Amino acid sequence: MDTPTEPAERRERFAANVPVKSYPVREAGGLVWVYLGRKPAPPPFPAFEFNTLGEGHVIPRRGLLHANWLQGLEALLDSAHVSFLHRRQLEIPPNGEVRKEVGYMRENGAPVFEFVDRPYGFTEGALREQPGGECYARVREVALPFFSFIPVAPSWPGVVVCAIPIDDEWTAQWYISFDGRERLNTEWMTQFNRDTGNPDHFNSDMGTVANMWNQDRAAMKAGHWSGIVGKGNAYEDFVVQESMGPIVDRSKEFLGTCDVVIVRARRMLQAALDRFEATGETQFLTGDVDFASIRALSFTYPAGQDWKEIGAATLAAAAE
Ligand SMILES: [Fe+2]
Repeated sequence: MDTPTEPAERRERFAANVPVKSYPVREAGGLVWVYLGRKPAPPPFPAFEFNTLGEGHVIPRRGLLHANWLQGLEALLDSAHVSFLHRRQLEIPPNGEVRKEVGYMRENGAPVFEFVDRPYGFTEGALREQPGGECYARVREVALPFFSFIPVAPSWPGVVVCAIPIDDEWTAQWYISFDGRERLNTEWMTQFNRDTGNPDHFNSDMGTVANMWNQDRAAMKAGHWSGIVGKGNAYEDFVVQESMGPIVDRSKEFLGTCDVVIVRARRMLQAALDRFEATGETQFLTGDVDFASIRALSFTYPAGQDWKEIGAATLAAAAE
């Protein structure tokens, strides 16, 4: 804009000749989105539902963690850990509807996974059969390479979590709550996810390996599963992700049956990388996708029926 240290006669001309790097930017969903790609024009903007909502209907908050973003992303794809890592949250249900759902997660810690390929990634059904013939489905939508739509009952506000790399060893995880029907109740939201209240770094009091992330071993002896006491699920997730080390050595891991989702995501990411290397074309957040229609949900249904059909019908009924 200006070079005030230049002599007056060349000040304006000099400033006009200094190139400044700039990136396409837009505001949506309470966030500033920047296209950092190399193409002259960005791909179509991912107009997810939360990106179309006005003030009060969408609340983003950012966590920072010392771990590679893929560790963050993989944690966001896994529906099985909820039964264990977040067990304490499952013991303090706020109402009857939720009490039923958390009961299903407590009772069955080994969900069966089924998938549907999507142009943006995949739909993940984590199915927990219950004694008595009922089945509980948590249906997650994964928009690679960043976004995981967390399964919630259709009457609940939506939550999407985005793992965004800062560099190889640091990740920003955006928790975005949204509700197209009514304004979000912030008091209710913080009841089960206590944090510092700083939207730019909500977990700044999480601690580090030096103080074992404030893990309360006495509380664990008394029955608390994670020892991360008085905080929300995100803190428990972050501690697990950080405690693996900044870049976990995957040659030493033992993938189990429920890690099928991790394997699937890695294969899809690897295929996208191969394609980019061969053609220069990126994948997933491009092309003809109706981003606004992507919705995660959880519901129960009679075991043996098709969760995909029941999920679609549940969403259609909720939209009416
Ligand atoms: Fe979690």
